[in-house]
Amino acid sequence: MSTDAAFVHQTVLLEEAVDALALRPDGVYLDATFGRGGHSELVLARLGPAGRVYATDQDLRALESGHDLSARDPRFQIYHAPFSAAANWLTELGLSGQVNGVLFDLGVSSPQIDEAERGFSFQRNGPLDMRMNQQAGETAAEWLARAEETEIANVLFQLGDEKFSRRIARRIVETRDAHPLMTTFDLVRCIVEATPRRDPRKHPATRSFQAIRLHINRELDEITEALSKVVDLLAIGGRLVVISFHSLEDRIVKQFIRAESSVDKDFFGQPVGTARLARVGAAVRASEAEIASNPRARSAIMRIAERVA
Ligand SMILES: C[S@@+](CC[C@H](N)C(=O)[O-])C[C@H]1O[C@@H](n2cnc3c(N)ncnc32)[C@H](O)[C@@H]1O
Repeated sequence: MSTDAAFVHQTVLLEEAVDALALRPDGVYLDATFGRGGHSELVLARLGPAGRVYATDQDLRALESGHDLSARDPRFQIYHAPFSAAANWLTELGLSGQVNGVLFDLGVSSPQIDEAERGFSFQRNGPLDMRMNQQAGETAAEWLARAEETEIANVLFQLGDEKFSRRIARRIVETRDAHPLMTTFDLVRCIVEATPRRDPRKHPATRSFQAIRLHINRELDEITEALSKVVDLLAIGGRLVVISFHSLEDRIVKQFIRAESSVDKDFFGQPVGTARLARVGAAVRASEAEIASNPRARSAIMRIAERVA
């Protein structure tokens, strides 16, 4: 568990992910989603003096926490950027083809959810923000104030699998015509009013909040873009380890690994080109014990691949 002044993030699949990186004591690693550094700290603890960990995170609080770590450990550096920019950063540092492992632990951290002012939680009233990078991009309030009703409905349906997407989008538009949606509870109210039947196991706002967060942060595009770039960073034998929490994220990761580990055949059935990755083992899920102590681990799924060419 990594600590912050007020909030903690309980790292998911900590040992499993670090083991999957198959660390070399003098290796170079990228933690693309630093958060509060749970994975980075364990990697550093297992590296020797020549090992290095580079990290990215687009959240300012994560960046602060990363700066604390780099002050304590000169083998660590953090860069405030979306992870799709990590490959360019490391390439500029001369590390293309030299990185021994890249880890993505996708989604949001617990402190992001727990701090009401970030606007990620339907259980806490705060400004309707939802940006991981507090300095850039459009907030959820700004997007909901200008988006067409059909665009809102499509986001709720495609990214949240929300079956009442059209009703909710309609209610949002009717409400904003009377007054702007400024807070998380303004949005929760619209969703609750537009939901005719409740699933007793799930708050009615769960799916819509998740969908709007994925949309505001372009989370699926970021993953697609970042994966396509990081393979070039890896040394032969280097590992790619990705932990997803959402089926749409996991589908992208699974299809990417499958595409990179197979080759097309020509007209005569001869292979064309070379596969760059090989899948390592089956997908890994959290143990019952981990899920019991951290319910967030329930949806985690980790996939591993190794660069082979
Ligand atoms: C689940 S947390 C990572 C937790 C971390 N492994 C730990 O043990 O503390 C995900 C982190 O990734 C960051 N993040 C998500 N998408 C990102 C992106 N596209 N670029 C950079 N950081 C991103 C979030 O800001 C968050 O801090």
